[in-house]
Amino acid sequence: MRIGVCSDHAGFEYKDRIISYLLGKGHEVVNYGTNSTESCDYPDYAHALGNAVDSGEVDCGIALCGTGNGMAMTLNKHKKVRAALSWGVALAVLAKEHNNANVLVLPARFISYRMALACIRAWLSTGFEAGRHLRRIEKI
Ligand code: RB5
Repeated sequence: MRIGVCSDHAGFEYKDRIISYLLGKGHEVVNYGTNSTESCDYPDYAHALGNAVDSGEVDCGIALCGTGNGMAMTLNKHKKVRAALSWGVALAVLAKEHNNANVLVLPARFISYRMALACIRAWLSTGFEAGRHLRRIEKI
């Protein structure tokens, strides 16, 4: 799987560790920044990942900012993106089962790194249920 990742300064440290985790699991990772804890604007990085999902450059993505809201709002402006904010395993599972979320958004200032990884594991290993959920996401 080719996974795009991005964050702002608030999510940078988790992003760095997540990249190592994903590479260790054999995924291909494309890093869309930011690359330091220096204050920056989350839309710059969210749009870079959103463009990559729209163009098919990556299969899916993971985005982090302080609350996750800025990343989710920006990513969901992109036609092919379905970005879902998750702060627990059940939310990450449902984001895939029901919404076929192709970008997982994590609120780095509100969850532990351990929880971030648990959400990522759950989201990556869950499948879309399709059926009535396909009809619904097609109406988005
Ligand atoms: C940065 O301070 C913060 O506003 C940002 O990480 C994010 O939470 C925005 O939605």
